[in-house]
Amino acid sequence: MVSNLCSTRNPPPPGCGPKVGVRPATVLGVGQDAIDDALAEAERRRAISDLDLSSSVRHFREVVQAVCRDWSLSTERWLDGGAGTPPLAVRRDDGTAAVLKIGEPGDLDQAVRVLHAADGHGYARVLAWEADRGALLLERLGDSLRMEARSLPDEGRVLVPLLQDAWTVPLTSGRRCEGKARGLLSILGDLGPRYGEAREGVLGLAREYAEWLAASEQAEVVCHGDPHAANVLRRGAGWALIDPDGFVGERAYDLGVVIRDACRELEEAERATPGGAHALLREESLRIAASAGVDPERVWRWGFVERVTTGLYLRWFGYVEESATFLDTATLLARAAGPG
Ligand SMILES: Nc1ncnc2c1ncn2[C@@H]1O[C@H](COP(=O)(O)OP(=O)(O)O)[C@@H](O)[C@H]1O
Ligand SMILES: [Mg+2]
Repeated sequence: MVSNLCSTRNPPPPGCGPKVGVRPATVLGVGQDAIDDALAEAERRRAISDLDLSSSVRHFREVVQAVCRDWSLSTERWLDGGAGTPPLAVRRDDGTAAVLKIGEPGDLDQAVRVLHAADGHGYARVLAWEADRGALLLERLGDSLRMEARSLPDEGRVLVPLLQDAWTVPLTSGRRCEGKARGLLSILGDLGPRYGEAREGVLGLAREYAEWLAASEQAEVVCHGDPHAANVLRRGAGWALIDPDGFVGERAYDLGVVIRDACRELEEAERATPGGAHALLREESLRIAASAGVDPERVWRWGFVERVTTGLYLRWFGYVEESATFLDTATLLARAAGPG
């Protein structure tokens, strides 16, 4: 079992590029179709995953209808873009559009602590929360940054100021942990041998970087923990984050996640010029680090370790092709970084 040292998140949604949108809405107010569709999707995710997701699907099945009834919610459709049991687009009886997310008891507690502390700054607002059933009602936001951003620089321009806002959440609301880098080392140790066959160079470099980070990791802010573009949603002319992990860590970690995806862009850059993927990502990590005032080398290293552990995580959750894409881009970067 993978250790949970600061590493409780879901994997990012599969796919390195723009995400396919939500399924078409079912009839407003009827609801059962949307719940059945969400359950079918949850079952599909469970079936392809190596990690046993059955208890979260069971919990979702057990509570979703009662929560909708108790909170007078009509369901519209399930929402794509995550990897757990899918959230539902719902409406309250006063017509307010909202999103219902259900987790097993305990799973969403830390996220809710951070969302409450943020009180809408940088993050989605909480409309209702019930810890016993793990039921969370959020303001309904718009499309994700993944749908709008055309490139990594586009994402960085949105994410750096948004994260700077999110990092103002008081440290007392964050989860203290032994260190994110140690958690990632433990993932490398557990999942690396299982899914990283023929990737020894990449795993070795990720371990080296993670050890270097672990030796000097700082408790600076409450990190979002997984600020990829599908966790950034439109709020009017601006943006808000959803789905925080909320551990106490360093800014460079969150920025490393920002440069973690972009697999398609990196592959294109490499096709255009050998070494192009490395050059592009180095340039972007410098730009992002400079705009946030953090050490670019730390951003780079967190980004690489995250790329490798995400590749392993995706494979664990059954997304074989997407996993290979992350690990292939990690291979390109490791090759260009040279030996040692
Ligand atoms: N408040 C919200 N408003 C609109 N869409 C949302 C909201 N919360 C979640 N979603 C949609 O559901 C997807 C998955 O939600 P998320 O909380 O990130 O789940 P997971 O924990 O599985 O990653 C998001 O990428 C987004 O498309
Ligand atoms: Mg998410």
